[in-house]
Amino acid sequence: MSRKQKISITFPPVKYGYDITLGNGFLEVIAGDIKRNFPNKKLAILSDNNVSAIYASKLKSAFDERELHSIIISFPAGEKSKSSATKELIESKMIKNGFDRSTILLALGGGVTGDLGGYIAATFMRGIPFIQIPTSLLAMVDSSIGGKVAINHPMGKNLIGAFYQPRAVYIDVSMLKTLPVREYYNGLAEIIKTALIEDKRLFESIIKNKILISDRSDRFLLKLIMESCRIKGRIVMEDEKESGKRKLLNYGHTIGHAIEILTGFSIPHGFCVSIGMNVENIIAYKMGILGFDDYLKINEILRYFNLPVKIPSKINLNEILKKVRIDKKSINSVPFFTLIRGIGLGSIDNAVEEDLILEALGESR
Ligand code: GLY
Repeated sequence: MSRKQKISITFPPVKYGYDITLGNGFLEVIAGDIKRNFPNKKLAILSDNNVSAIYASKLKSAFDERELHSIIISFPAGEKSKSSATKELIESKMIKNGFDRSTILLALGGGVTGDLGGYIAATFMRGIPFIQIPTSLLAMVDSSIGGKVAINHPMGKNLIGAFYQPRAVYIDVSMLKTLPVREYYNGLAEIIKTALIEDKRLFESIIKNKILISDRSDRFLLKLIMESCRIKGRIVMEDEKESGKRKLLNYGHTIGHAIEILTGFSIPHGFCVSIGMNVENIIAYKMGILGFDDYLKINEILRYFNLPVKIPSKINLNEILKKVRIDKKSINSVPFFTLIRGIGLGSIDNAVEEDLILEALGESR
């Protein structure tokens, strides 16, 4: 096992926060930490049926050895489970099993588990502590950090939710070994996004080490994930509720979300963000704020990792524009984008003319 690394997150004005602990093959360490920090708590381990089969029983055994009471609650894998129906089923299991306010919910899984588990924790008995143990790269570098928790509503994604911070995040990179290739690159897109908005050095390091990244080198991944989490941590510490700086994290997402919705969530989130970053870079180039060399460099590295940059032909470009108008950043239907003005130079609140958006979309076929 490699040495543990820590990043601390705190929020002003009343200081509260948590550590993101990163390591390699350290489920035992996680159980030990939880025993030390929460000795009298009952533990609900929430995971989907895929993750449950691989890791949940290992974690439960580690708790059993330490005489910590835990039960595994699993649910069907997939975005459909981010629903009020699944939430209620899980809550019923918790109540039937005697879980009360002295419970900690452990969200062991990808983004769906973290979002759903976090929202259950935010509302169960008016709020119980929860811990994120992300198992997908996307969840490690993005959804497990920053306290956005939610379920979907039939009328849209993540419409019902809260900002509810976890008490701790444990990232075990050895879990990435079992991650399907598509899932791995899905997460990598968010790391590239994070580098592009804030950290030129990280972006250059991704280019320099692209072979190590494709090979999933444990050592390099640990470093890469740590850097990415550090940046996201800094951003959410500064702007927990997304009134300013946190909007930087939406780079690539305005167009990305529209594609995600219009394809019925059949394309992974990170892939849509990759297309979104490319389109939004064309917009920034056309506005004269992003150089062509930077545009090309980004386009090349996305394609190197087989991340898509073109809009699927079945999507009508006007439909994308309609979705952009109702994006959460739009004001009175005027589209506002997070763009980059260079590598590592994210910039929020850029009003963009609709004609320019359509032009950039047209060039992204
Ligand atoms: N995934 C974007 C955010 O956490 O704000």
